[in-house]
Amino acid sequence: MALLADFKDDGDIGGTHLVRTLRLKDLVSFGIAAIIGAGIFSTIGNASAAGGPGVSFLFIFTAIACGFSALCYAQFASTIPVSGSAYTYAYASFGELVAWIIGWDLLMEYAIGNIAVAISWSDYFTAVLRGIGIGLPEYLTMDYLSASRGYEQATALLAQGGTLDTLPNTVMQAYLAWQNAPVLAGMRFVADIPALGIVILITYLVYIGIKESKKTVNILVILKLLVILLVIVVGAFYVNTDNWSPFAPNGISGIMKGVSAVFFAYIGFDAISTTAEECENPQRDLPRAMIFALIICTTLYVILALILTGMVPFSELAVGDPLAYVFSRVNLDVIAGIVAVSAIIAMASVLLVFQYGQPRIWMSMSRDGLLPGLFSSIHPKYKTPWFATIVTGFVVAVPALFMNLTEVTDLTSIGTLFAFVLVCGGVLVQQDRNEVPISKKTFKVPYMNSKYVLPILILTGVALLYVFNKEGMAQFFSMTDGTETGWEVLKHKLPMIGFIIITIIMTILSFTRNLSLIPVLGLLTNLYLMTELGFTNWSRFLAWLGLGLIIYFIYGYRKSKLATNATATNLPG
Ligand code: ALA
Repeated sequence: MALLADFKDDGDIGGTHLVRTLRLKDLVSFGIAAIIGAGIFSTIGNASAAGGPGVSFLFIFTAIACGFSALCYAQFASTIPVSGSAYTYAYASFGELVAWIIGWDLLMEYAIGNIAVAISWSDYFTAVLRGIGIGLPEYLTMDYLSASRGYEQATALLAQGGTLDTLPNTVMQAYLAWQNAPVLAGMRFVADIPALGIVILITYLVYIGIKESKKTVNILVILKLLVILLVIVVGAFYVNTDNWSPFAPNGISGIMKGVSAVFFAYIGFDAISTTAEECENPQRDLPRAMIFALIICTTLYVILALILTGMVPFSELAVGDPLAYVFSRVNLDVIAGIVAVSAIIAMASVLLVFQYGQPRIWMSMSRDGLLPGLFSSIHPKYKTPWFATIVTGFVVAVPALFMNLTEVTDLTSIGTLFAFVLVCGGVLVQQDRNEVPISKKTFKVPYMNSKYVLPILILTGVALLYVFNKEGMAQFFSMTDGTETGWEVLKHKLPMIGFIIITIIMTILSFTRNLSLIPVLGLLTNLYLMTELGFTNWSRFLAWLGLGLIIYFIYGYRKSKLATNATATNLPG
C-alpha cells in the first residue's frame, strides 16, 4: 500500500524499483488520506449517541494508544524497510506462524474494514440521491439486520399504542424497508445495493492498476480537511451549550460503548509505515509523520465531536450520515449537501487504499508459500495481483450487501487492535533480544525503563478508577447484574480478567527484564481497548483466529517455503 506516484509497480510488495522521494508532508498527507473516512463521517454518530459529548475524551485516549503503536510500527518499518505491512515485519522477525496470525488478522483491518466503509459510503450516497429527488426503495439501501430490528422496534411501539411519526428517521426507514421488501423463498430481500456497487467499481479500478498519485492524495486530503473545517466553523454558530450538559449522560460505560467506532476512525495511520522504502529520511520522518497525522486527526475529531453533540441532542446522532444530518436538522440543506458529496469522495478514497492493500498482503503471503501461488499471480497486462484482487472484491462486496455496520466495525476494530498489540509485543521481543536496528536510516523506539514507571501508572489508574468509577468497580466484583447470575455474568468479565492477568505478567516482566516503557504501554492500552469490545466480539474474533490456525495447519504449515526448504535439506543424498 505504498504511495505510488514514485513506485514503478512490478507487482512486488518488496519493491525493487523504489525511489526515495517522500518527505514529511507527503507522508502526513498519505496518512490523513487513509485515516479520515467512515469513522469520522459515520461511526462517530453512534459513538456520540451512546456517550454524549464525553466521547471527546475517548478520542484522546484512543489517540494515545495509537501513538504508542505508531512508534512501534515506525521501528519495525525502518528495521525491515520493505513496502510490506505488519505481516512482512512479523515474518522477518518471528517466523511464519506469528506472521500468518498477523496476516490473517490483517484481513479484519483491510477487507472487513472496507465492508464498513462501503456501508457508510452507501448511507451518504443514498442521502445525496434523496436530496436530488431520487429515492431508492429502502430495502435496497440497507442491511437485513437493521431492517428487521427497525421493524421490531416499530411494531413494539405500535403495540403500546404509539404512532409511527414519533419514530426516529433511521428506524422509520428500517421499518419501511422490512415492510416493503419482496419475499423470496420465504425470506425478505433486504440488501445494500449501493455498497455492492461501489466495491465492484473500486475493485475494478484496483484490478486495472489505478494508483492514487501523490497529487490525487494531496487533493483528496485538502478536500477532507476543508469539509471538516466547514462543519466545525459553520456548526460552531449552531451549538447550543445546553446540549453539553450533562457531559457524560450515560457515564463512563456509555462513553466506552464507542470504543470500536472511535478506534475505527484512527485506523489507517499504520499505512504510513509501508512507505519506508520510499522515504527520503525514514528514521526521522516515519515516526513524525504518524504522530503528526494522529495529532491533526485527534484535534479535528475532538472538536467535531463537541460540535455535533452541541448542535443536536446527543441521542439524535445514531444515524449513518451524522455530519450531513446535523445541518439538515438546522435547515442548512446546502451545507448538508456539500458535506454529503465530499463524504462520498473521501470514503471512496479510503476504500481504494485498503482495497489496494489487501491483495498485496495476500501476495506476500503467497510468495512465502502460506497461500496458493495463484494469490501472487501477476496480470500480464495490468501488472496487478489479479486473482488476489478479485478475491478481495468478493470478500468485501458480498458481506457489504447484508452485514450490519456496527457489527462489522466491531470486528475490524478488535482485529486491528490485536495487530497493534502484536506489533508492540514484537518491538519488546526485538529489544529484549537486543536486536537493535543498525543502520543510520533506522528508527528506534526511545528507550525508557518501565521497571518503576509501570507499577506507578497502574496504581494511579486503579486509584482514579476507585475515585471516579466506584460503581463500575463494585459491579466488576459482583456476580449478578440484577437479571442474570453465574456464567452469564462471568463470561462478560472474561476479557477484563484476561487483561488484568496480562497486566500483572507485564509488570513482573518489566521489573525483571527492564522492558521498554513505550511498547509496554502500547500493548496494554490497545489490549484494554480490546477488552471494552465485549464477549460476543471476543468470541467471534477468537473463532476467526481459530479458523486461521486450522487453515495454516492444513495448508501453510506443509506448503510454505520454510517447510519445503526444510524437507529439501533433509532429503538423503
Ligand atoms: N479510518 C478509516 C475510516 O474511518 C478506516 O474510514
